[in-house]
Amino acid sequence: MDDTIRRIAALKKDKNAIILAHTYTRPEVQDIADVVGDSFELAVRAADSAAEIIVLAGVRFMGETAAILTPGRTVLLPVADAGCPLADMITPEQVRQLKAQYPGAAVACYVNSSVEVKALSDVCVTSSSAVRIVRNLPAKQVIFVPDRNLGSWVAEQVPEKDIILHSGFCPVHHKVSPEDVRKVKARHPGAVVLMHPECMKETRAEADHILSTGGMVALVKEKKHERYIVVTESGITHTLRRHDPAAEFIDLSNPTMYCQNMKKITIETILRSLDEGGTAVTVASDIAEKARYALSRMLELNR
Ligand code: 13P
Ligand code: SF4
Repeated sequence: MDDTIRRIAALKKDKNAIILAHTYTRPEVQDIADVVGDSFELAVRAADSAAEIIVLAGVRFMGETAAILTPGRTVLLPVADAGCPLADMITPEQVRQLKAQYPGAAVACYVNSSVEVKALSDVCVTSSSAVRIVRNLPAKQVIFVPDRNLGSWVAEQVPEKDIILHSGFCPVHHKVSPEDVRKVKARHPGAVVLMHPECMKETRAEADHILSTGGMVALVKEKKHERYIVVTESGITHTLRRHDPAAEFIDLSNPTMYCQNMKKITIETILRSLDEGGTAVTVASDIAEKARYALSRMLELNR
């Protein structure tokens, strides 16, 4: 492992590369990353970075987002088939149908989506930016795709908008029931419950704070609490511990919240992609241009 880490450090220097990792990746991947963040932060840091090569330790849509925001540079995905089942739950054809059905509505698409879906959208959102962006959209009617749970969370926060939901969901978050959370709360009375908005509405009612992964990190950094129940992918407990080593972080053990795709990324796959050029993300220029519009609007409207 030490040799792998040394070789990664040397290759990063030689090739002017940077490693951006999502909070759901394995602890050892987070430990060698230059930035560990939520999907919004990774998009911003990719756009701001001067590195020639960006290794995106995350799932495909995150690599595509980074590639669209950094034209002319190389974005490497350590594992080509690390996808996101939620992103695959909506097709471009379904977006076209929704647009035909609601001609006056704006289309807000969760960044967990394909480039083709982004290219058909008016704006992209992440879980940390969705509420603010939807509130700032000029249109009253908003088609929100593909995550129905994040969409219903946004609808609750922005009641002045008329939100049309698609039926997608994240298999990792959607399966958690209110009862699953209540059982952990009963075992750890007084612990503060942090929950991702990809959980179902009924489950969200058990939370103290509904937050994106970046929002969870920001809250924990304040060091106001001693114990947390963390209802999102379990990889984040490593990130949170780094920010408050004295606090206790309890994740759900039944059901476990484990994103198989995020866990495909290892330090060995990162080394291979840096060494051999790995899978460079390519997006056709006409699609990239349209998707870049929706992504740039996400950065602008998140004010
Ligand atoms: P964040 O936007 O909080 O990083 O979440 C991304 C994701 O894939 C959640 O499942
Ligand atoms: Fe996709 Fe869910 Fe994994 Fe996030 S946790 S990357 S939404 S499958």
